[in-house]
Amino acid sequence: MNVDELLKQNQESDLLRFTTAGSVDDGKSTLIGRMLSDSKNIYEDHLEALTRDSKKLNREEVDLALLTDGLKAEREQGITIDVAYRYFSTPKRRFIIADTPGHVQYTRNMVTGASTANLAIILIDARNGVLTQSKRHGFIASLLQIPHVVVAINKMDLVDYSEEIYENIRAEYNAFLAKLNIPDLTYIPISALCGDNVVNKSDAMTWYKGVPLLQYLEDVEISGDRNLIDLRFPIQYVNRPNLDFRGYCGTVASGVVRCGDKVMVLPSKKTSRIKSIDTFDGKLEYAFPPQSVTLCLEDEVDVSRGDMIVHVGNQPRVDHNVEAMIVWMNEIKMEINKPYIIKHTASDVRGVVAKLHYHIDSDNLHRNQADGLELNEIGRISLELFKPIIFDPYVKNRATGSIILIDPMTNATLAAGMIIDRRGTTEKELTNSRSEPASSNIVREESLVSSNDRQRIMRQKPVTIWMTGLSGSGKSTIAKSLEKKLIELGRPCYLLDGDNVRHGLNRDLGFSAEDRGENIRRIAEVAQLFNDAGMIVITSFISPYREDRAGAKDIIEENKFIEIFIDAPIEICENRDPKGLYVKARSGEITSFTGISAPYEPPKTPDIHIETNTTDVSVAVDRIVKQLVDAGIIIK
Ligand code: ADX
Repeated sequence: MNVDELLKQNQESDLLRFTTAGSVDDGKSTLIGRMLSDSKNIYEDHLEALTRDSKKLNREEVDLALLTDGLKAEREQGITIDVAYRYFSTPKRRFIIADTPGHVQYTRNMVTGASTANLAIILIDARNGVLTQSKRHGFIASLLQIPHVVVAINKMDLVDYSEEIYENIRAEYNAFLAKLNIPDLTYIPISALCGDNVVNKSDAMTWYKGVPLLQYLEDVEISGDRNLIDLRFPIQYVNRPNLDFRGYCGTVASGVVRCGDKVMVLPSKKTSRIKSIDTFDGKLEYAFPPQSVTLCLEDEVDVSRGDMIVHVGNQPRVDHNVEAMIVWMNEIKMEINKPYIIKHTASDVRGVVAKLHYHIDSDNLHRNQADGLELNEIGRISLELFKPIIFDPYVKNRATGSIILIDPMTNATLAAGMIIDRRGTTEKELTNSRSEPASSNIVREESLVSSNDRQRIMRQKPVTIWMTGLSGSGKSTIAKSLEKKLIELGRPCYLLDGDNVRHGLNRDLGFSAEDRGENIRRIAEVAQLFNDAGMIVITSFISPYREDRAGAKDIIEENKFIEIFIDAPIEICENRDPKGLYVKARSGEITSFTGISAPYEPPKTPDIHIETNTTDVSVAVDRIVKQLVDAGIIIK
């Protein structure tokens, strides 16, 4: 049986989880009320079934979280603090809405539990248009990679059902969302109060040719949204009722597990096979998200809560240093080095925010320096955990890539975060699926040799010495001398030079901003591989854009990236004109020439700054070598 058939057979594909986001008074409650009251077929009970399930678990009250296994798991982890779930169904589909009571913190509404949401409804009041909050909600939806976003422009009755107003809002919001990655975006003009386009098509807006909201929610295709490739089964507890039975209980976070599968338990790396898959309702041949099951293995393996069962050939990362984009959700400000509890799959780990790289202004998506984060602010952080966690980058796996930060004193939810792939993912890429391999069926192989092993043999810390500067500033001259010097010192190193790389690897690239970005990205990937192999890399590329250099630094890793600004005034470079290119650029023979007809953005805080009109090549090289020795990168 293939996965599609498997899903079709299962009711879960008929379950749509959604969140709503809007500003105070945007009409969220009215909207939900309207959907419930206008639809004759809708019903909100299912209580009978629930009571039965609750009894099975010896719980006294009906536990709404039992509505789905996935929710139950969230509840056990205490993640859904102050979020209520509302449940309703139509003959076509069942729906679960994450719903925060009260008029506070609508951002939290969206973020909490949203790593499992299929869809987000962003409400915009037609009278107010696009607000900062609306932008923030769009940004968060893209960060969370919620597969479907519906922008419901509400209160159309109060603007005379004006098509023009609707179209203006749509154009303004589209212009903002274009910078993000929202895979499926739909706009619907509605009036929750009067019932236009909620359940029934509006007579007052005949210019709108789409379907009403509820119909959209019923029909939107969601079966392809789930990750059924990478098996991740975080163990919630070990069930050992007697000596003959030992089962590992948890929720399948992603992937499909079948009886007989060869599996590995992390972090111990012990392997075994799946003997059986048990549930309250009997045995299963296979299980997939978000089913809660008990897995039994053929061999006795030492396992504890927070460990993870995965397929042998498809392993997640294990690390105690992770980077994440987080959305701060508490009035208490985020502080560096303050202990927090980090909830991740089935484990609680203590840790600190070691660094706040930047805060993002959700109005214009600019990055700003900051020393903390406040309520509703979004930022990129480095976390140092006291114990390693088993994770995937969020782009790869929403279940194993999300974290929640908790206050250890009050147990309050402080923030929700998405783990970033440190090897090359910026937040731009987090919202941009192009950063992922073209196929999702690609899995990293772990080498049996660590980069530490290689470093020991090479007796050096592999770094990339990244030289940036105008054409003719002296990059290649200094880079070549530096390479020679390092080799004389017995240090394995290799120079990557602009013109050379553009003859081979990058011969398909020109000099548009986009091509230069791709040029730098590929070079950074190559430098990263050389570094991993233990070599020191020297690069000599104009690399005129700050953002591209920041991307290179991300790929290579911050602590391995040394940025050197080879600085000479444009007049001097033009005077030197070693390749006669400035002359051609001036005559218009070359277009987009850096410094003449294309921009150069100098580094703001380079690690080393060399002014070549006043510094000899040998002096420059000595300065760089001294810095490498002082930093313990090479031993002289
Ligand atoms: S980068 O901008 O993408 O970093 P890179 O360092 O690889 O540029 O290549 C720059 C080299 O290409 C220059 O040294 C120069 O010899 C050559 N070149 C040809 N056309 C241009 C151009 N339009 N702008 C800059 N350099 C150019």
